[in-house]
Parts: sequence; C-alpha cells; structure tokens
Amino acid sequence: MKIISTPIELKEYLKNENRSIGFIPTMGALHEGHISLIKKAKEQNELVIVSIFLNPTQFLRGEDLDKYPKKDEADKQICKLCGVDILFFPKTDDIYSSDEVSLLAPKVRGYVLEGESRPSHFNGVLTVVMKLLNIVSPTRAYFGKKDAQQLNLISLMVKQFFMSVEIVAVDTVREKDGLALSSRNAYLTPLQRVEALKISTSLRSATAMVMRGILDSELIVANMREILSPLDISYVAILNREFTQISKVELGNSVILVEASVGNTRLLDNIWL
Ligand code: PAF
Repeated sequence: MKIISTPIELKEYLKNENRSIGFIPTMGALHEGHISLIKKAKEQNELVIVSIFLNPTQFLRGEDLDKYPKKDEADKQICKLCGVDILFFPKTDDIYSSDEVSLLAPKVRGYVLEGESRPSHFNGVLTVVMKLLNIVSPTRAYFGKKDAQQLNLISLMVKQFFMSVEIVAVDTVREKDGLALSSRNAYLTPLQRVEALKISTSLRSATAMVMRGILDSELIVANMREILSPLDISYVAILNREFTQISKVELGNSVILVEASVGNTRLLDNIWL
C-alpha cells in the first residue's frame, strides 16, 4: 500500500492512471462500517483509494475536534489488511489555505435535521468532499447510508455540479445487538451503550409497524418517540428519498431517521424502507 500525503503528489501519481478508481473518504477511526465500504469498492474497481482527513470545517465552534478519536497507526494497518492500494493522508494545510473558496449547502435540505442543530456543518462536508473528489478523480465514491443526509447532499452536489463520479450508497453495518457502527460509539460508557440501543430498537419497531400495514408517519413517529423517550431526541423524521417530509410511508421510497444524544454523544441512525 502506498501512502501519499499531498494533493500534488497524489494527482501526479494518478496522472496516467486508466484503471477504474474506487474512493472512500473518511475521517479515520476506521471500523467495520468503513471496511464494508472498502470491500464494496474492491469488488467494483481496479484501484482503491482511502483518504483519512479530519476535516476541521465540518465541526462547529464549540464542537470538540480535538476529542475526535484518532487511530492513525491502526487505520493504516486496517487499510493494508483490506487491500487498499493508496492511502491519502493529508494535513490540514495541504487541503486548506487562509482565504478559501467554499461551497454552501442548499438552503432547505442543508438546514433541516442535522443541519438544523449544526448550521454550516454541511458546508464543510460538501467543500471537503468536492476537494477530495477533485484530487482523486475517482470512477466511484462510497458513502454509508447511516449518514443519510450527508449522502443525499453529496449526491445532489454531484448532480447539480455535473460531476462525473458515481456515488455508491452502502448499507449500515450494525453490532449483533443492533447498534449502528460509528466512530462516535467510542465515547459511550458501557451503561450509555445499553441506552443507545433504544435508537435501533425504535427503528425496528417502526419497521414492524410498517410491515403490519401502519403507514401513517405521525403514528410511527409517536411510537418511536415513546421508545426513545429517556434520551435527548434531536429529531425523528420520515422522509422520502428526495428528503421531503411525507405523511405516509411510501414503501421503496422512504427513510426513517433518528438523531438522539446519549450523554454528550450524538448518535444518528436510520432505516430505508
Ligand atoms: O462521513 C465522514 O466521515 C465525513 O463527513 C467525510 C465524508 C469523510 C467528509 O469529511
């Protein structure tokens, strides 16, 4: 595995590359969820590139960037074992300068759900993803369905900026007991981890309601809120795949999303129905 740390070096290295490139952008602290993105990219492409870059612009003032889990050496080993061809590992100065052009998330879809409690978060995500896609020029880029709003906005950016990369959405990986894998799970105490299971339980209960033919969004959300009630709920929402609120679940075109805090840790999860 080749490790490259500057955009210029990576662009130079890829200059004459004709093989298909699968790209997985990450902020490190890799887990099984990332490994499933890498596996998918290996199945579908001849060359696989992973980036590890803890992007400062997607953290708001007061959000503790310094406390984000850092596991550089373990991450390198994971990439090597997974057969990654190139690990792109830039520093902040390699990606950002002091006077920056940046992207703005769309005024509606970028400022609901996670964007409501974290205004400007998606500006940072879209800006860095645009930069990384321009550096790597991949055939396909891989994102987890767990960050459904991020996935939706990146797909929208690619479409609206007429970019030629294919965005591939990959299913959420869960622990045996249902907890969706996330780098933030590392912050949970054993007791909080048990509490966090209410999130996946609420989604399983919503799925069961839908399977029984109960499609009314209000009823489903009320049931989920009851299950989640001891937690600090940021939102429970039922949207279509265009990310518009719907009053009834449309099978094959719906996403049920939850964000709730367990202690100081905000956890996201969702189910695509
Ligand atoms: O999902 C993430 O880890 C980040 O938001 C991403 C897409 C790597 C951009 O920094």
